[in-house]
Parts: sequence; C-alpha cells; structure tokens
Amino acid sequence: MRHKEIIDELSLEEKCALLQGATAFGSWQNERAGIPSVQFSDGPNGVRHQAGAADHLGLNGSEPATCFPTAVTVANSWDEALAERVGEAMGAEAASQGVDVLLGPGLCIKRNPLCGRNFEYFSEDPLVAGKMAAAYVRGIQENGIAACPKHFAVNSQETRRQASDSIVDERTLREIYLAGFETVVRHSAPKTIMSSYNLVNGTYANENEHLLKGILRDEWGFGGAVVTDWGGSNDHAAGVAVGSTFEMPAPGLGSVRELLAAVAAGTLSEADIDERVDEVIELASTVHPAVLAAPSSFDAEAHHALAREAATEGCVLLKNDPTAGGSPLLPLAAGTGVALIGDFAKTPRYQGAGSSAVNSTKVDSLLDLIGETSLDFKGYEPGFERHGGNNDQLKNAALKLAKAADVAILALALDEIAESEGADRTGMALNDNQVELLRDVTAVNPNVVVLLSAGSCVESDWMSDAPAVLYCALGGQAGAGAALDIVTGNVCPSGKLTETWPRRLADVPSSAAFPSDEKQAQYREGIYVGYRYFDTAGVDVAFPFGHGLSYTTFAYGNLEASERDVTFTVTNTGKVAGAEVAQVYVAKPEHEVFRAAQELAGFARIELAPGESKVVTIPLTSRSFAYFNTQTNAWETEGGEYELRVSASSRDVRLIARVTLEGTGAPNPYAGRDVSAYESADVLSVSDASFKALLGHAIPAEGAAIGRNMCFRDLNHGRSPIFWIVWLVLKGIKSRADKAGKPNLNVLFIWNMPLRALAKMTNGMVNMRMVDALVMEIRGFWIIGILRFIVEFVVNLIQNAILSSKIASASKK
Ligand code: BGC
Repeated sequence: MRHKEIIDELSLEEKCALLQGATAFGSWQNERAGIPSVQFSDGPNGVRHQAGAADHLGLNGSEPATCFPTAVTVANSWDEALAERVGEAMGAEAASQGVDVLLGPGLCIKRNPLCGRNFEYFSEDPLVAGKMAAAYVRGIQENGIAACPKHFAVNSQETRRQASDSIVDERTLREIYLAGFETVVRHSAPKTIMSSYNLVNGTYANENEHLLKGILRDEWGFGGAVVTDWGGSNDHAAGVAVGSTFEMPAPGLGSVRELLAAVAAGTLSEADIDERVDEVIELASTVHPAVLAAPSSFDAEAHHALAREAATEGCVLLKNDPTAGGSPLLPLAAGTGVALIGDFAKTPRYQGAGSSAVNSTKVDSLLDLIGETSLDFKGYEPGFERHGGNNDQLKNAALKLAKAADVAILALALDEIAESEGADRTGMALNDNQVELLRDVTAVNPNVVVLLSAGSCVESDWMSDAPAVLYCALGGQAGAGAALDIVTGNVCPSGKLTETWPRRLADVPSSAAFPSDEKQAQYREGIYVGYRYFDTAGVDVAFPFGHGLSYTTFAYGNLEASERDVTFTVTNTGKVAGAEVAQVYVAKPEHEVFRAAQELAGFARIELAPGESKVVTIPLTSRSFAYFNTQTNAWETEGGEYELRVSASSRDVRLIARVTLEGTGAPNPYAGRDVSAYESADVLSVSDASFKALLGHAIPAEGAAIGRNMCFRDLNHGRSPIFWIVWLVLKGIKSRADKAGKPNLNVLFIWNMPLRALAKMTNGMVNMRMVDALVMEIRGFWIIGILRFIVEFVVNLIQNAILSSKIASASKK
C-alpha cells in the first residue's frame, strides 16, 4: 500500500466517504489528511468543464474549450502521433481549467452502425481503437493529469444503456471487446478507467469480479482508480470489493452507510476499502499538484490550428470519379466557380450531442471560409430543411445557383437527432430531402462534390449520383477549413475508414437484434464484428475497412517478413505529396479453430514526397497470430502457415508473405461442440443451439421484470397508476423533442435509467431503501409503498445529518 500512514489515520466513515463523489464532478476531500477533492470533467473530444451548475449531459454551459474532431475522425487518420498531440492539447486545457481527470477517450467497439455513440468511439477493430486510445491517454497524461478511458466494457448500444446485460462468450470478450482496453492499460498506464453502465454476463461491469479484479487489475496490472459511469453504480459495496474505486456522481451518504453496513456484515473487508482509498490518495496526490502548477490559460489559436490539422488528416475521400474532362473531379483548380449548397455549410454538424459536447472557442463554417480559398465563390443556398421535409423554394434556389457554377459543393450530414448519446440511431439513411436535392442538383450540374458530416456510416446508394464524396466525419470546430483544404488540394487526403461501410444495415451480423430492446443484448455474432465478418463471409460492402482515396498513387514492394515483423517499401508514384496508411493483416487459410479470414495486426502512416520511397517496418508479436482459448484460458497459437498481407485496405491486398509457426499445441476449445455457424461465419441469424455452443453453457435467463433495475421506459408494465403517468409524461416529452429534431438528453437519460439510479444521482436525497419503497409501489402495493417511501425519506434525512456531522468533524483539521 502506497499511503498506509495516511489511511491508518482515517476513520472508517472518512474512508468510505472518499470513495464517492460529493458533487456532480468532484470527489470528497479530507482536509485533515490533506486529500483534495478530485475534479473530473468530460470528455473525449475537448474539455467540458462546467464552472457553474454541473450536469453530466452537457445541458448547462461549460467554459470555452477547443472542440477537437471526435474519435471517429481522428481514428480515420490512423496517426498515433497526431492523436497524442490532440490528447496533450486537451489535457493542457483541462489542467488550465482545474480539471484533474479528463473523462476520455471512449474506445468501445463499434459493433453496429446504429450505436448512437459511435461518433465517440474509434473503430470496429480493437487494434486501431486500442492504439489510438493509448496515444490519447499518453498525450493527456503528459500534463500530469489523468485520462479516463471508457466505458469498460462491452458497451455498444445506448438503448437501455444503464441496465442492458451484454451476453458474450469469453473468446469474443477477450479478442474483440477487451483487447483495445488491454492495449491502453499495458501501453499507456491510464491513471483511471471508467466502468460501463451495462452488465456483462449477468453482473454489472462495475461489480464484475472477472473484469475488474481478474482481468483489469490482476492480469493487466492496472493500479489506478476505477470510476463508475455517472449513475452507473448498482451496489457500491460489491464494486469496491472487486476493484471499483469511485462511485459517481454524488450518491449521498446512504451509499456510505451501505459500505459501513457491508463491512459490519462481513461482506466487504476493510482491507478492500483501504486498497481503494489508497488508489484515491495516489490519484489525488499526483494529479492535483500538476493542476495547481498548470498555466491558467491555453493558446486557443494554436489549438484551433491543431484541431484543423486533425480534421484534415481524418477526412476520407470515399470516391473521386473522373468528370467529362477525364480527370477526377477533386481537387478543384484555383478559379473554379463554386456554388455552396446545404444548410450544414452555414451551420456545421461538427460534434455529437451529450456529455461530450464542448462549448467551442469558435466554430468555422464552410460559408465563413470559402471566400478565403482560391475558388471563385458564386454564392450559397441552404437547399433543404435541416431536419427533413420538403421545401421547394429552398430547393429551386439551390438548383438555380448550381446551374450557374462550374461545380456544386453540397454539404450533407446526419442531423443532430440522428445520432446522440442516450439513443441509438433508427436507421442508416440520410434524410430523404438531402438525397433528393443531390439527385436534382446533378441533373442540372453533374460536377458535384459532396462533403459528408456524420459520426458513423450512412447508406450510400445515393453516392452513385455524386462523382466526388469526401467523408468529413465530425470534424470539430475547425472542420470546415479541413474540408476546404482537401477540396482545393492544399492538402492531399490520407484518411482511411476505421469501420466498414456496409451496403445495407441488414448485412450487419448484429442487425437482427440491434439495439436489443430486451434486458439482454446477446452478442450472438461472436468475433464476427465489422470486416472480420464481411471478409470471412464474402459479403459485398459499400466501402471496406481501411478504404480511403488519395490525389496521388502508391506502389508497394520489397516485402520481407518474419513472425517478428514485416518490412516493405512504399513509393509515392504520383505527382503530389501525400500520405499512405499501410495495413498488415494476418490470415490463416488452413485452420482448425475457427477464425476470421484476416485480422489487422499493424499499420503505419507514411508521408511521401512525389517519387519518394520509404522502407516501413511493422512489428508483430505473438498476439498478432493468437486466439483466446477458453479451455486453457490463455492466448494460444495454432501451428502451421500464416499469410501476412500488406494492404491498402482490407480488400486491397498489395503484397503477401508466408510464415510458418510452430504453435502452442493447445487443444481445440470447441472440440465436441457444434460451432459450424462460426466456422462458416454464417452469423446473420444464430440459433439458440449455436450460441449455446459458442458460450459453452446455457444462455442465461433474464432476471425479474419489476425491481431496482427496472428502467423508466418499462414503467407502463408496472402496476402503479402514478408511474403510468410518469411514463406517459416522459414519453410525451421524448416524442415532442424527437419531432422537433433536437434530442432531449435529460429525458433520454431518464428513459433508459433504472430506478436504482435515483439513489445514485440525487446527492443523498433518495437512498436505496426509498427505491425499494418505489419498487413496492410499482408492484401494486400502493398504500404501503407510499407510506414506506415517506418513512424512509425522513429516516434518510436524519441519518444523513448524523453521519455528515460525524465525517465533517473527523475530517476537519
Ligand atoms: C456518460 C459518460 C460521461 C459521464 C459524465 C455519462 O452519461 O456515459 O461518458 O463521461 O456521463 O458526464
């Protein structure tokens, strides 16, 4: 223990209090022991520090900070050094605002395009996600403060996010959903980590011994603090016992009493509490001095420039067809007469809604900046209603403008309601009115460049109407300049997709049950997420993983490979400077244990002047070839021949080498089980029997419907008229907000919230015993339920007052 002397001086009550938030974003302090309050702030793409009234959904204003491109965008750069610089800048801003722990990056796996928070996550592939996140963490922590990678783990949907139970087999857990976190923990030593809201295989992530103790702490050696997601704690005592440190935001003293009671009952040891308190003191005593020493301002212009650089590298040129003149439409030559069309050109869609939303220091728009380019700007028309619906007047004005220009630049996007924290997307399509406008514009002027802003992939049939499409993802506050740099050829595009764009949603293996509206989210597709599925099952896609075009061309050659590394040469064979993202995939065509057709094992981004060649070496490790064997509970390698495919995308293999490995000789963990569906990647619709064979045990049964973890969205299934009214009111507000095109985050949060979160987020006003009274009420014991609630309310007030004065007098100097 690092701080035994201090801990020995603390009373049990004081220690328990240190393990929770005292305010929406601050932990308890202990003046006597010199333990300062730890200040947390979102988030993953910029600081959202609320100096005034704080909330965890980004509803109230926060101090101005740089809104960097969101994770999806920076991931598309595949540039770890860039990600580290972005992290460092965010960390500097955080420290300047008094923030000790920055709540990010987010690295959940993009299991399905409909996850409402995909914009906050890096990839469908754990290697990219882990490496990019590790770079962010290093950058943030270079400032002496802490990063908080999130949400650990298997948290890939927003629907029922606080009570959804992710049922996943151990191999998939390790290979797909934990591998990125493993990289982060092992390679960037984050000082904190955020546990996710959901359950994993029947136990809340935050109290999951296998995840927190077995894997995170014991196996990966994580010694930092585990922070619950806001309102994500179910049973703090259970969490503390297995390695969860801070219960956030401010659960109140009822939660302290629960810890005390658990110690008294012998279900939680004081030694476990001491371990957690040690983590708190270690965190507070390392990050706080750094914050106190940090400058109180940051260079907003320099950070804006960095945000623009990151957005530029993150833009992916999806297509760039030749026009009548024979050469590709982009880049546009100086003097090209351009019409700028689309509401998003004036009011950009540059970040996502929810806890990650930043109060940007400034926001560039295409309309603001186009006059500063070499293009001949002919005018701007919004062209369509932002949130859908017909408007012929807007359309006709846009068509007139497009006709009079050499090229029409169309800014299309998913609108604010389409993707947000707290809700999953309802489909992959862009609004019809945007697609119709594009079709009509191409009829009057075929030279159309689409600049597409969206935090995740969209249906792309409409792209056949546009010769050039640049995917800007969510470009942050300086994204407009980035897009124009590429359109004009100031910068050669180099971004590549870190998620596959399927032709249609139904092609995605999890689509049959995503998002799950049941208590369980069953990960029946197993390891077949993203390209692992599409490439194994041979399904045609709109744009493969790793795809992205350039204004120049690259040749690959001179491959040499061993099981330790792959070396090859990349040459810029075109006329402009550019960067290539080269990828190495490992395949084992002949195998006994089923596996994906290929898996990413490494990548490199190489900048090259015209005609220049560089030798690239991508290291490999034993893990590059391994699978997780559930029988030996270890990473094992099958013996035999492996292919090392040096590729420009998962579907564009340029060079192949073969290496033979001896293998670890482990038994086939699936022997005697019928996993044929997984052998053939036939996982669009997996039978119960196949899923059971994958799990290696029966599919767990779902728990009781009415209880502490019943979500507000299910209150209509209870037996209490009061709660039916609550349900109706929530539903009414939610529907009105959806129709107005602006998600109501508060209501979305409550909609997916279980009853017990009332006791975890009300700073002591409600405790778990009061929640139990509400459960009685919902079960139909109307009178007893209400009476019990009133009694518990009064008891809670009295107990809070007694405990609070006890802790206050102990912890004062
Ligand atoms: C989100 C977290 C966020 C936290 C604090 C939660 O609702 O899931 O990602 O860090 O709020 O704002």
